[in-house]
Amino acid sequence: MESMTFVLFGATGDLAKRKIFPALYNLYLDQKIPKPISVIGLGRREISDQEFQKYVEQSLRSFSRQEAFDQEIIGPFLEAFRYSVLDAGNLEDFKKLENIVSQREKELNLPENRMFYLSVAPEYFSVIANHIKESGLGTTKGWKRLIIEKPFGHDLKSARELNSNLSKAFKEDEIYRIDHYLGKSMIQSLESLAFANPVLQTLLNNKHIANVQITASETVGVEERAGYYDKSGAIRDMFQNHMLQILMMTAMNMPKSISPDEIRKEKRKVMESVRPLKKEGVRQDVVRAQYKAGKINGEPVISYINEPGIKETSENDTFIAARLWIDNPFWEGVPFYIRTGKRMAAKSTRIVIEFKKTSKKEKAERLNPNLLIIEISPNENVSLLINSRNPISGKIEPAKISLFTEQMDIPEAYERLIYDAFRGDSTFFAHWKEVELSWKWVQPILEAFEENLAPLHYYLAGSTGPEAVHSLLREDGFHWWLDE
Ligand code: BG6
Repeated sequence: MESMTFVLFGATGDLAKRKIFPALYNLYLDQKIPKPISVIGLGRREISDQEFQKYVEQSLRSFSRQEAFDQEIIGPFLEAFRYSVLDAGNLEDFKKLENIVSQREKELNLPENRMFYLSVAPEYFSVIANHIKESGLGTTKGWKRLIIEKPFGHDLKSARELNSNLSKAFKEDEIYRIDHYLGKSMIQSLESLAFANPVLQTLLNNKHIANVQITASETVGVEERAGYYDKSGAIRDMFQNHMLQILMMTAMNMPKSISPDEIRKEKRKVMESVRPLKKEGVRQDVVRAQYKAGKINGEPVISYINEPGIKETSENDTFIAARLWIDNPFWEGVPFYIRTGKRMAAKSTRIVIEFKKTSKKEKAERLNPNLLIIEISPNENVSLLINSRNPISGKIEPAKISLFTEQMDIPEAYERLIYDAFRGDSTFFAHWKEVELSWKWVQPILEAFEENLAPLHYYLAGSTGPEAVHSLLREDGFHWWLDE
């Protein structure tokens, strides 16, 4: 791994504190960080290098996965950190930053490899990228990389504008777009699951699969993010990015080789084959809903419109479900159902693949279909539900074969993704084409919601979603699995 400078915009913000510093520290403990490294934190607050290092240390003590805080271990790590005040709108500040970066490069004898992590609100992405270019910070003898995190735009048009601005300063292969779902270990395992198991490879297609169900339910509500969430809703916050990324990872064909380009090519092909919706047709295939007061784990919770910062008249979606069709020879005729929502019964991200019942006997005896269950979080597991004869009762009953049982202390999504970015491996970052195709697919839904062409349903907090999400599957003769 090559030595580099890690320039962090938004270094006094929440994401840096909770995720980025702990990820860097855990990589350091696991010997997965470039040596030497120079870290330059930037923010609006006036603080000294020492104060910044103290701040970083506090964040590690509160949020690090691994706890190793002896001075001789943590000391050299913190020593790499420097801080500078920066106003993103002021080009002069970037020129000063360029001096600090090059001075540290000289002191530490670093090659001019520069990684810029924009942990700031999206409205600053374009101006920062532009100032990196204008100040000369981005003109290096080594490589440069930009890391940004969603939201990448608010709709198709704004996403394209943002991308066109960024691409004036960085080439596509220099941009690392984080979708933290792609950093989850089970999502990363999806491609090898098929690749390493010919038995699954043979079965995962429309000859054998009846439907695929992707769920990401959360028990949390809008939290302290009313301003952002009420404008985004579940459709922009979760569906356009995380859910469609899971879809691409689940439905993609075996790549010719396990390389970032080939994997992303196959993902793109999935999104290109998803049957487009017309805004007039949205109401048939998409369910939007909002939570009402209810109970979660026995505790009463208030309705969305009573949450602090939310207007009582808000028609924002806190739940989205959709039925999608992938028009390619592998998946033609297999419905993919996707749902995500806040304040639901349980926190669970999972994929359930339901197999077809192929024999008359299976149907006549009303046996359960076989299910392949991929649990992404909070548990990580792959299991297969098969039917087996109970030796005592003689009855055929479903039995579960679990592939993973042990819950290991595995690296967090941010550790994995930052490590990949250090090495220049972009496999698990969202390519612009994937982002654009996802916005393109979602765009008619946004328009239908805006023009009120689809009803807003309601569900009780602590439930599995509105009645309409159950009838969506019932229409096709199916039901959601594992909702109990
Ligand atoms: C974020 C969304 O991207 O993902 C949040 O903005 C959501 O609203 C979160 O809560 C869910 O992530 P995870 O990893 O907890 O499933």
